[in-house]
Amino acid sequence: FSLKQYNSFGIDAKAERFISVKNTEELRSILRKTYAAEIFVLGGGSNMLLTKDIRKTVIHIGLKGKQIISQNDDEVIIQAKAGENWHEFVLWALDNNYGGLENLSLIPGNVGTAPIQNIGAYGVELKDVFSSCKAMNVQTLEEKEFKLEDCEFGYRNSIFKNSLKGRYIITSVNFKLTKKDHSLHTEYGSINVELEKQKIEKPGIKDISDAVIRIRQSKLPDPKELGNSGSFFKNPVIGRDQFEKLKLEYPEMPSYQVSTELLKVPAGWLIDKAGLKAYREGDAGVHKNQALVLVNYGEATGKDILDLAHKVQATVHEKFGIPLEPEVNII
Ligand code: EPU
Repeated sequence: FSLKQYNSFGIDAKAERFISVKNTEELRSILRKTYAAEIFVLGGGSNMLLTKDIRKTVIHIGLKGKQIISQNDDEVIIQAKAGENWHEFVLWALDNNYGGLENLSLIPGNVGTAPIQNIGAYGVELKDVFSSCKAMNVQTLEEKEFKLEDCEFGYRNSIFKNSLKGRYIITSVNFKLTKKDHSLHTEYGSINVELEKQKIEKPGIKDISDAVIRIRQSKLPDPKELGNSGSFFKNPVIGRDQFEKLKLEYPEMPSYQVSTELLKVPAGWLIDKAGLKAYREGDAGVHKNQALVLVNYGEATGKDILDLAHKVQATVHEKFGIPLEPEVNII
């Protein structure tokens, strides 16, 4: 079974067996029949690089549905099932005037995979709107509720990527959204500038979403047209000493303060400055508008992309002395 349609990089890796589950009972029944070590869980497939065939049973999480769990005059708790497409869910929330998700517009992937890496963009992270999630233990087949404080969310990180890796399958997520007095985040990543360009003085949540969509479309390739997984690397965090030294040589280097001693530097800028923007080897390439994104021009294998990623890491390390860590899961 080819997984080409099921991963946003468009890699033609094969699965030994492929099963799409529509509800938790189907999921439980498959898990009951299969050893935990023999399963591979697939959500939106938008944050993985398949470098080889999967000699396991691939379980595609097709759980759908959204419902209101509770609400008052100001806030609502919405439950969305893991297989809901992320951006469609964001648009649905906007249509209902539920606020909180607008900055996270147009992120590829599904609801159920969003907590695993605490997706984030334009000054908002999933943790800011997360209330709880349910996940099935692959051994006991019981569903457990995880509250915000249980998830250990960090920058592109959570407990599901660390101590609980491979042990739970997220089945639904509860979001806490606003019904009025939405708090708007326009300070990050030139949303302000985009709103000014459109001459919008009093933006609402839909305006923010539209601005984010326009900004993303201007620099990030659409996976339907050009295979990719968004940011391939995390933005590295470096110490102040190293930062000061680099700043002498590259005064224009952008950065964000993390703490008094630590700063985050955009990996895209480092790769760009190292001369690799738009670099291409066969069908594997560094995107021409955003060097943080690696792309598949058509027939690249996972290995081709991985070789390119290694070259990018080596080049950036040589030039700046900074190691880049992949953000994408390499399978
Ligand atoms: N830059 C360059 N050249 C490039 C790319 C970027 O000079 O080729 C510079 C930009 O000019 C800017 C800085 O680097 O000064 C940062 O770029 P940008 O604002 O595009 O954001 P980013 O740090 O590259 C992060 C997230 C994105 C998210 C945006 C907006 C990570 C790894 N990536 O990118 O997330 O959409 O901020 O919030 O944190 C994703 O995770 O897949 C993703 C796309």
